[in-house]
Amino acid sequence: MAKGRAHHSKRPTHQLLLAAVLSVSVLLPLFVPAAATVAVAEGDGVSALGGGKPLAVGKDEGKLVAEGDAGGGGSVEEDEFAGGFGSLDSMLQWAIGNSDPEKLKEEAADAQKLSEDELLKRRQEIKELMEKLKMPSDADLMKIAIDDLNNSSISLEDRQRALQELLVLVEPIDNANDLDKLGGLLPVIQELSNANEEIRTTSAWVLGTASQNNELVQNQILGYGALARLVKMGYSTSAEEAAKALYAISSLIRNNVNGQEAFHSENGSAMLQHILVSNNIDVRLQKKVVFLVTDLADFQLNSGIVQLPFLSERLFLKSIMDMLSRFDLDLQEKVLLAIKNLLKLSSTDVEDFEFCDLSNVLLRLGVQLEDLTPEDQKEFAVEVDALRREVQTLFQQKLKQGKATVA
Ligand SMILES: *[C@@H]1O[C@H](CO)[C@@H](O)[C@H](O)[C@H]1NC(C)=O
Ligand SMILES: *[C@@H]1O[C@H](CO)[C@@H](O)[C@H](O)[C@H]1NC(C)=O
Ligand SMILES: *[C@@H]1O[C@H](CO)[C@@H](O)[C@H](O)[C@H]1NC(C)=O
Repeated sequence: MAKGRAHHSKRPTHQLLLAAVLSVSVLLPLFVPAAATVAVAEGDGVSALGGGKPLAVGKDEGKLVAEGDAGGGGSVEEDEFAGGFGSLDSMLQWAIGNSDPEKLKEEAADAQKLSEDELLKRRQEIKELMEKLKMPSDADLMKIAIDDLNNSSISLEDRQRALQELLVLVEPIDNANDLDKLGGLLPVIQELSNANEEIRTTSAWVLGTASQNNELVQNQILGYGALARLVKMGYSTSAEEAAKALYAISSLIRNNVNGQEAFHSENGSAMLQHILVSNNIDVRLQKKVVFLVTDLADFQLNSGIVQLPFLSERLFLKSIMDMLSRFDLDLQEKVLLAIKNLLKLSSTDVEDFEFCDLSNVLLRLGVQLEDLTPEDQKEFAVEVDALRREVQTLFQQKLKQGKATVA
């Protein structure tokens, strides 16, 4: 069995254990040190105490904990505790059997009366307790998933599971930053070439999640040359695969000049255009492309860096503007936002918008919004129409400026 199997059970098991120990420590303040000791014994899965009955943790748990416990500091406490309870179970049994509800209430009340110092001390004890529980860190969990990915003999199912674990684990930025250090980026990138579509899709997803708003990871992934493969995946006939490739590409090149340069040299714009002009393609995919274009134009507007010549190419602009003739309010709104940004770019030429007959396209859209919108979308149509007017004004301004420059 691959090590990946038991991952999901880990955290819940630890949380249960923690909850049990914490509740005991709250009910029986005097026993905090004892609880800590028991937890160590259980966490190690060692039954040196004879009566010690390991909790039902996954089979890998012991191994993982053992790996993280090179110091072996737990054994001393086990010895100290040898005369006490054999296991957390038996201590709980004892606590329940010997507790007098009234007394527990008193003790709980006492706990509330603890002084600042005592409270601090208690908090420190609980903190140490948690450390002793040796919950596997996210880095430990990432390592397991990475080892699985790096193992050529594991099943597709386990490979997919390992990727899905990483998908969740790389969400926090610190974990994403650790991914390459732990040797995880290359194995994930390699999976982009897996023969299995689902695996390729999930790897792209992991890369997109890890690099989102994270310049360090963006540059690491770009450094490994993953963009070329992702651009190819954008042509996939599977909408899911193409969507995740687009997601990863967007994450990688967003606000990242290196990424945009790589995207350009990998001929990424041809892929975007392919999605825009294909008739039988999922409209959600086209919306993603339009959104990406808006974002890239926005970056160019704010940074003044002109990295992506395709944003000003006539044929590309035309494929964006052609989208306005589709009867889909949501798409039309996104396209208008894109055109708004593209019009503002100093690198775009107003003649190219004229060439695409933008004036008439906007007029026709106005009529359509007014006359052909179903009753339940009227409100949305009013918003889209306001945006349409804004674009029209921008276009007129750009026309005037263009004429002024020529004159
Ligand atoms: C690789 O996976 C196989 C099959 O799950 C397993 O038997 C083997 O121990 C793994 N190898 C390593 C190095 O983890
Ligand atoms: C993956 O396996 C190769 C050998 O098969 C090894 O050189 C490399 O260090 C491993 N990577 C990780 C992250 O374990
Ligand atoms: C980019 O892709 C398009 C469409 O596949 C192709 O016609 C064009 O030659 C490519 N350009 C470069 C620079 O590779």
